[in-house]
Amino acid sequence: MKFSTPIHTLTLVAVYLFSSTIANAATLEKRDDGDEGIPTINDVQNPVCKPWVAIRDAIMGDIFHGRCNDLARSAIRMSFHDAGTFSLSLEAAGKTNGGADGSLIADPNEINRDENNGMQAIVEALRPLPQKFNVSAGDVLHLAGTLAVLACPGGPVVNTYVGRPPFKNVNPTGMIPDTHDPIPKIVDRFNDMGISVREAMALIGSHTCGKQQFVDPAFANDTFDTTPEIWDIRFYGETQRNDSDPNVFRLPSDLGFSHNSLTQKDYSRFVGSLSTQEDWAREYAKAHEKMSLLGQDADSLTECTEIMPPSIHLRDITTTHSGGAVDPPVDPAKLEAAIQQTRSIWLQ
Ligand code: HEM
Ligand SMILES: *[C@@H]1O[C@H](CO)[C@@H](O)[C@H](O)[C@H]1NC(C)=O
Ligand SMILES: *[C@@H]1O[C@H](CO)[C@@H](O)[C@H](O)[C@H]1NC(C)=O
Ligand SMILES: *[C@@H]1O[C@H](CO)[C@@H](O)[C@H](O)[C@H]1NC(C)=O
Repeated sequence: MKFSTPIHTLTLVAVYLFSSTIANAATLEKRDDGDEGIPTINDVQNPVCKPWVAIRDAIMGDIFHGRCNDLARSAIRMSFHDAGTFSLSLEAAGKTNGGADGSLIADPNEINRDENNGMQAIVEALRPLPQKFNVSAGDVLHLAGTLAVLACPGGPVVNTYVGRPPFKNVNPTGMIPDTHDPIPKIVDRFNDMGISVREAMALIGSHTCGKQQFVDPAFANDTFDTTPEIWDIRFYGETQRNDSDPNVFRLPSDLGFSHNSLTQKDYSRFVGSLSTQEDWAREYAKAHEKMSLLGQDADSLTECTEIMPPSIHLRDITTTHSGGAVDPPVDPAKLEAAIQQTRSIWLQ
């Protein structure tokens, strides 16, 4: 892979300043520059990545408004439904294959499949961007996915690549697991994508920011954990315990992962406290990076992670007085201060 200069010195300084001040963010005046840690076009070293600053802003600003909104949730799911159609066995047989190629936004019909219901709005919003910026649909779609993870506070920086060619064909059908599928069938499908159980159990934690509309329409917009605006590990523990919380919905597949002998061990690694949160964020980031490259020749791509804004670390924004809780909740005032500080140029 053509690795770019990792991170510009200015960005490092800004990230350092951010992490050292954020603990007191709620009491600090908002700084004048207001865009702390967000790399500008001048910060970006690799010329291939410079044009991506404008595309980043079109997605993070115009579409997500710098926040974990419904379009951001949808974008995370969309990156799975685009990439997760990849199949090692179809590839070995020389058959038409899927992959992280953007066909979900470039093709007019894929979005109409039942399994893609709910992603119409994000697909519509992203569809004009490849032509507008003269880049591939795959790059736009997967940048939207990695930016969406950051838009949800707590979400890690996922290494982000550009240079995917135009999509070759529409995705084969029947490749995205259904929530009612037996766990062994889902595990086989992930293996056929080249995704291990451990990686799949890290990826499934993105349901931390999810909502459902179509599994049971009677409970439309119920969330998958009690903190759908925050990228935390609460999803794992709450689902495994099958807590009964108002307006929280448990997907059959998530309940299954938390108990089935094939998945329970890897699932349970992420049930825990704030220290587990950082482990999960790291493993999630590696697994999402791999997902975003399925079916692509990674050596021909360029890494543009240097355009990404910094992550908001939950350990810096929890309530000081946790009442003895193992996992103190996020303090809403500190959360908002962190968002204002690191997402300022996109907020509306
Ligand atoms: C076994 C694999 C999976 C199954 C069966 C599954 C199933 C589902 C279902 C049924 C929904 C709700 C859709 C609706 O009714 O609106 C959903 C939402 C979601 N899924 Fe998954 N999922 C899986 C894996 C993943 C993965 C690997 C990711 C990403 C890394 C992901 C990200 C999301 C997100 C972010 C949402 C929320 C979308 C929104 O709120 O608009 N899922 N998933
Ligand atoms: C679009 O990008 C391609 C390379 O990816 C380039 O050959 C072409 O000239 C560009 N078109 C415009 C209008 O800039
Ligand atoms: C669920 O949320 C979507 C998107 O915000 C909205 O269009 C829909 O009306 C909501 N459904 C219910 C039942 O509240
Ligand atoms: C989870 O709890 C609900 C009631 O809240 C119950 O109906 C369901 O059977 C439970 N599922 C599992 C897998 O324990």
